[in-house]
Amino acid sequence: MPDLQKIVDEIYSKLKPRRGEGKVADYIPQLAHVDPKKFGMAIVTVDGEVHKAGDADIPFSIQSISKVFTLTLALGKHGETTWNRVGREPSGSAFNSIVQLEHEEGKPRNPFINAGAIAVSDLVLAGHTPREAIGEIVRFVRYLADDETIAIDPEVAKSEQATGYRNFALANFMASFGKLDHPVEHVLGVYFHHCALAMTCTQLAHSGLFLAAAGKNPLTGHRVVPSQRARRINALMLTCGHYDGSGDFAYRVGLPGKSGVGGGILAVAPGKASVAVWSPGLNHNGNSLIGSLALEMLADRTGWSVF
Ligand code: DON
Repeated sequence: MPDLQKIVDEIYSKLKPRRGEGKVADYIPQLAHVDPKKFGMAIVTVDGEVHKAGDADIPFSIQSISKVFTLTLALGKHGETTWNRVGREPSGSAFNSIVQLEHEEGKPRNPFINAGAIAVSDLVLAGHTPREAIGEIVRFVRYLADDETIAIDPEVAKSEQATGYRNFALANFMASFGKLDHPVEHVLGVYFHHCALAMTCTQLAHSGLFLAAAGKNPLTGHRVVPSQRARRINALMLTCGHYDGSGDFAYRVGLPGKSGVGGGILAVAPGKASVAVWSPGLNHNGNSLIGSLALEMLADRTGWSVF
């Protein structure tokens, strides 16, 4: 194993002067209040070593990274029938794009674009009230990270509920094709709340550990999913986790990853470690600019890559 603490410290000091680059998401008003100079990084290895730097223990809005957890829950509830409702192909479009939905009759391309994650929220809602479904998601993430302190930031959820016009459009469009089982307001209530989960890099890296260790969290001993499912979730993160920037991320980093507009990225080095980075400034695809660079440097220095 390379000297990970040394590598993390080097990456942090190299990128520290560049903190603040990129554009902080402001279409969710509450996210615009975040200090653009924040930058944190945490690695948790499958042996339980934890290495961190910078603002690794400050909670931030994980936004779309939560879609990995809701997909895992939906697959647990619905198995392969999940794919009747959402595809598993890269979209080549922006995360909030509506264009493909019309030609593809309300079936979103993949579970990580907004439309796909809204379809997944509908699946997680099955048999539940929205409050119960949100509770189930929070409990699941706490179980994954083995941390009972993880919670939703209600101000972020409220802020998105008040301004999420695009998401209302996507959900209504899918409903017009008869593709949602629950009322649009219920589905979006679940979606906005899971996007508003607040976590630190350290918590996030712990929550992704099951994907680095063939479906079983090696620190808690909990088997979360069968190994084949972990491989498949990783495949989706690699091909779709950064929207129309997924090819670039695979080229530069070579690891399954999922980004969020809060500036976080969760990356998985199978058999090695789970990594979380956070820096709020985004690149033109809506992915953390400094966070992507940090992961590129990490992959370069460790040789971690799925290729
Ligand atoms: O629905 C939205 O627009 C946000 N709650 C999540 C989008 C997101 O994180 C895209 N990531 N890069």
